[in-house]
Amino acid sequence: MLSTESAATVRATIPAVAGALDDITARFYDTMLGERPELLDGLFNRGNQASGEQRKALAGSIAAFATMLLENPDERPDALLSRIAHKHVSLGITEDQYVIVHKYLFGAIAHVLDDAATPEVVAAWDEVYWLMAGALIAMEAGLYQRSGGRDVWRPWTVTERREQTADAVTLTLEPGDGGPAPDFRPGQYVSVRAQMPDGVHQARQYSVSGWDGSRRLITVKRLRAGEWNPAGEVSTLLHGTATPGDTLMVSTPAGDVTLSDGDHPLVLVSAGIGCTPMAAMLRHLDEHGSDRRVIVLHADRTPADHAHREELNELIERLPGATAHVWYEQDHTEAGEPTDVTVRPGTVDLGPIEIPEGAEAYLCGPLPFMRGVRTGLLDGGLPARRVHYEVFGPDLWLGQN
Ligand SMILES: Cc1cc2nc3c(=O)[nH]c(=O)nc-3n(C[C@H](O)[C@H](O)[C@H](O)COP(=O)(O)OP(=O)(O)OC[C@H]3O[C@@H](n4cnc5c(N)ncnc54)[C@H](O)[C@@H]3O)c2cc1C
Ligand code: HEM
Repeated sequence: MLSTESAATVRATIPAVAGALDDITARFYDTMLGERPELLDGLFNRGNQASGEQRKALAGSIAAFATMLLENPDERPDALLSRIAHKHVSLGITEDQYVIVHKYLFGAIAHVLDDAATPEVVAAWDEVYWLMAGALIAMEAGLYQRSGGRDVWRPWTVTERREQTADAVTLTLEPGDGGPAPDFRPGQYVSVRAQMPDGVHQARQYSVSGWDGSRRLITVKRLRAGEWNPAGEVSTLLHGTATPGDTLMVSTPAGDVTLSDGDHPLVLVSAGIGCTPMAAMLRHLDEHGSDRRVIVLHADRTPADHAHREELNELIERLPGATAHVWYEQDHTEAGEPTDVTVRPGTVDLGPIEIPEGAEAYLCGPLPFMRGVRTGLLDGGLPARRVHYEVFGPDLWLGQN
């Protein structure tokens, strides 16, 4: 909880600080990564730096945290913090690094706000920072303890490679150090750290899409270059070069968008490569002989682009309570789908889908897609707290819902 004096100062300065957050976070990253380039080697994602997405996520989270402190001073915004803490833990972030981030963040605040950064203003925002950092550090300590420690990286061996589509490949990984594979919950992801051709290491997250005993499967879709953007560096490298026998550094699993227990109905909605956490959730239900009512909604460009398509059909056929609705923008064909799978042309339309009462929904796909589906589900009567979503990049929705 903020002290009374700081709360008044934060309240008075939140519009000015929120308005300058973009400049503050831009300068923060420029100075921090300029002076501490080692943080770009295996920790910060330089694709997100280039696209500016990480900056927006950081700024959005701080503004949202400050607003929540003012509006609900006695509550800790766990949903906001949890997403960040899980991402941090998947990268092995340590408590002492909060001091580094503090130094450069407050250097940037002083620079951008200039004369407006009075000692009183700086002290009030310092309190916000350490409240947020303290909450994150505590949450991360709990996660590290439950997952077996702060040393999150282990070598895993690629033992199989299976092409899913022209752009997506499933890699089977086994612990390369002979140790046991850590437990994970369906929906969780691992970070994979790889060395780029220029020698710099980069880490990216990949949802666990399947498993077989101690083996873990991830499915990587390469991001092709577009008119305005270069090809994604880690996905292109993994897609192009990962072969059986290779070693990859893989983190312990993290992620808070996981399948809840119970027997209430589930709605799993994905687009494109967003099908990977859903594949794990369906697999888990199948392994547990579940007869839960499950409605899968999936959108893809064409059937040939649809990763895990065969697996989806098999699982829907086996799960007694499951049905699926699939939309293809092009080449809409039905190629022997089971009767419980309906294929339609175009993009997802919730119109013909009856969402059962008491359902819990899980969404994964591009933000505009999830925004549309979420609105549809809320309009259809699902309470917001029962709609969970995973973003395959920095979460620009943090604190907005
Ligand atoms: C929780 C989570 C789970 C995920 N699960 C999966 C999964 O199961 N399967 C999967 O395939 N992916 C998954 N992802 C996405 C994955 O982590 C990577 O983001 C993805 O593979 C792209 O990484 P990359 O290194 O190839 O692209 P990057 O090099 O990181 O590029 C990302 C984007 O930024 C753009 N960019 C890069 N540099 C510039 C520049 N200079 N100017 C403008 N734009 C630029 C790129 O063109 C690209 O569109 C997940 C992400 C998260 C957060
Ligand atoms: C109060 C302090 C901090 C806040 C508010 C904060 C906030 C965030 C947010 C919002 C994200 C994006 C989460 C997502 O959407 O997935 C993130 C990711 C990240 N954070 Fe922090 N963070 C803090 C401290 C730190 C520290 C101390 C480090 C270590 C140097 C760190 C390193 C990272 C990295 C490497 C990522 C992933 C970046 C990427 O994928 O582009 N953060 N953080």
